[in-house]
Amino acid sequence: MTRILITSALPYINGVKHLGTLAGSMLPADVYARFQRARGRETLYLCATDEHGTPTELAAADAGMDPAAFCAQQHESQYDLGRRFGLSWDHFGRSSSPQNHHLTQRFAQELWEAGFIEERITQQVYSRTDKRFLPDRYVIGTCPHCRYEAARGDQCENCTRVLDPADLLKPRSAVSGSSDIEILPSKHLFLRQSLFADKLRAWIDEKKGSWPLLVTSIAQKWLDEGLQDRGITRDLSWGVPVNAGDWGPNPDGATPDLEGLAGKVFYVWFDAPIEYIACTWEWAEARSQASGTGPATLQSWERWWRGEAAADVTYVQFMGKDNVPFHTVGFPCTLVGANERRSADGAWQVASNAPWKLVDKLKGFNWLDYYGGRFSTSQQRGVFMDQALELLPPDYWRWWITANAPEGDDATFVWEQFQAQVNADLADVLGNFVNRILKFTETRFEGRVPDGGVAGPLENRLIADVSAKLSELTALLEAIEMRKACQALRQLWVLGNQYLTEAAPWTAMKTDPERAAVAVRMGLNLVALFSRVAAPFIPFTAETIAEALGQNGTGTWPEPDAGLNLLAVGQAVRAPEVLFRKIEDTQVAEWRDRFGGVAEA
Ligand code: 2FM
Ligand code: ZN
Repeated sequence: MTRILITSALPYINGVKHLGTLAGSMLPADVYARFQRARGRETLYLCATDEHGTPTELAAADAGMDPAAFCAQQHESQYDLGRRFGLSWDHFGRSSSPQNHHLTQRFAQELWEAGFIEERITQQVYSRTDKRFLPDRYVIGTCPHCRYEAARGDQCENCTRVLDPADLLKPRSAVSGSSDIEILPSKHLFLRQSLFADKLRAWIDEKKGSWPLLVTSIAQKWLDEGLQDRGITRDLSWGVPVNAGDWGPNPDGATPDLEGLAGKVFYVWFDAPIEYIACTWEWAEARSQASGTGPATLQSWERWWRGEAAADVTYVQFMGKDNVPFHTVGFPCTLVGANERRSADGAWQVASNAPWKLVDKLKGFNWLDYYGGRFSTSQQRGVFMDQALELLPPDYWRWWITANAPEGDDATFVWEQFQAQVNADLADVLGNFVNRILKFTETRFEGRVPDGGVAGPLENRLIADVSAKLSELTALLEAIEMRKACQALRQLWVLGNQYLTEAAPWTAMKTDPERAAVAVRMGLNLVALFSRVAAPFIPFTAETIAEALGQNGTGTWPEPDAGLNLLAVGQAVRAPEVLFRKIEDTQVAEWRDRFGGVAEA
């Protein structure tokens, strides 16, 4: 049986995330994880806060805190919000964990000793006003590619190109705003990504057709433009320290320049993906502590990641499109580089008999926009997770975001469309159905699943239609097609409504109580089915429905051809409180005023 390892891109620690972040990684990963667990597969869904790098230092400075205290506080806040949104992480780790420090340093050492890291003197932006180097986001300026004027030194938010701070036109410091800047030499370590170009191209070619086109085309573009070696160290104090003192010679016999590398840390994009592995170790550690069995064994977490022990693992990553290059190029270079060695004559050899696993399925998303413009943390534009939960329960958001997942193209959030869709799908179609049949059972069948009557052609047709739709839904979730999966689920709900309208137990009750009993039994079984299959999408509501049916949890994923026999005859049921209150026009008007509801120029 396949085990499923799921990671969603690690949210930066610098503040509460907006709905765009949820849409492009954490929420679809959660839906998929819940689905796989319900199918009975051993599933591990991991996420963590991405805590290093210039965004953290800048945000901590803004908050008047030191980075460690800032990260501890923000991690708790993101954890709390994630749980309140129903994100069912098996572990929510931290890239600043001791496990990640250890693994990041170990990967760097292996890459150095294998000949995949080299030292270079680089030209770095130095602020005379701030008296410090300004790596990555510490510099703001004009993008040399698209002329966007607020591009950050690491990546242009507008055209998504990865940048070097020294490339920016009209550079200025993000700390002081000063443009009193000079370029000074500084020694740094480079991961020799260019050496991996052929291997990565062959790997991406294999994935064409099975990974989203968005993902393979971004990777392909990077490879076509020529893979650049990548600086993996920074002149910062917050991060994983470069441990060059521990390293042996590289295949050319060279040892690292300890003086030149003193006081540097690894680049956040080097250590962050390694946290996927370190988080597995953190998870194992937390479990063994909880069970009082002492420190986690190596085997307990490496079995998800390395060699034969991980042969039955399917590893699935979720992320927004801006993260795709780092996961199709950067992180794979780290892993392949640790699996292999390069001798002085340039020949490749296997370095490990337990190679690290590369991702099997990479699900990339386009942007979820807010009124056609980007959600933005720095500009506080759009709706953020804490605000969303102040307005409405999590399932409203989960449903809309998943049903509008930016898969084929960018999607946009507009309050009126959100209102219309949530009211129609959740209140009118699902909520009404559940309420109607359960109320009727309470008043006319003493709140119990009725016995009696025989299924007729109407029921046989319903069972066939439900079975076909359920097969479709199952296949779509396996294929991680979130929008289409929501459509299939909505169609299942519609089938239920159509059946009840045709079977009309309220009318049959007067003339043919046996017929009414069949229809009510079918209706209640549909409710039970809906609770199970809606659980990955709207878990809180699914749980409420299951409770109303006297069920202990939402249960396993139903087999499409198992018929509609989920409830025992005589089972006590009750109508729940209204499942979804409709969103009113007045609420929409108020929220549009509060959050802004026109496209930015
Ligand atoms: O773009 C982001 O939000 C990054 N923090 C994602 C990191 S993913 C992983 F590599 F850690
Ligand atoms: Zn640009």
